[in-house]
Amino acid sequence: MTFELVDFPIHGNHDGNLIALEKGHGLPFDVKRVYYIWGTRPNVVRGKHAHRKLEQMVVCVSGSCDFILDDGAKREMVHLDNPSKGLYIKHNIWREFTNFSDDCVIMVLASEYYDEADYIRDYEVFKKEAGR
Ligand code: TYD
Repeated sequence: MTFELVDFPIHGNHDGNLIALEKGHGLPFDVKRVYYIWGTRPNVVRGKHAHRKLEQMVVCVSGSCDFILDDGAKREMVHLDNPSKGLYIKHNIWREFTNFSDDCVIMVLASEYYDEADYIRDYEVFKKEAGR
């Protein structure tokens, strides 16, 4: 399956923690866009799409949530609750995310500008394009 859980190095001391992400150091692509999601009701299911080309690094910077990742053949669930871990999702992966804690803030670093044409929002179309 084309996703990975990446451990980011923490620059920590008695004052607290800091994580810096740079291409080649924790980030495998050039970032063209950053967006973040918060204030999501716990049982809402977001996502429900795949991307044709886009790569993303998802960081749950506060609280927790669950990501369900599906390559058309297999489904896996990843629980995100740690700002020092990044969920790297390559293209052609169907994702749904849910089970948001009240304090959940998800930051997403993206390899491309927003482009609705890159979205596959129909699961059957996704499976066909993924060759499943
Ligand atoms: P969407 O990607 O469908 O959200 P999610 O997968 O988190 O449920 O986007 C929700 C709305 O926000 C949709 O109208 C498109 C808009 N949007 C942008 O304008 N720019 C962006 O970079 C993103 C990610 C979404």
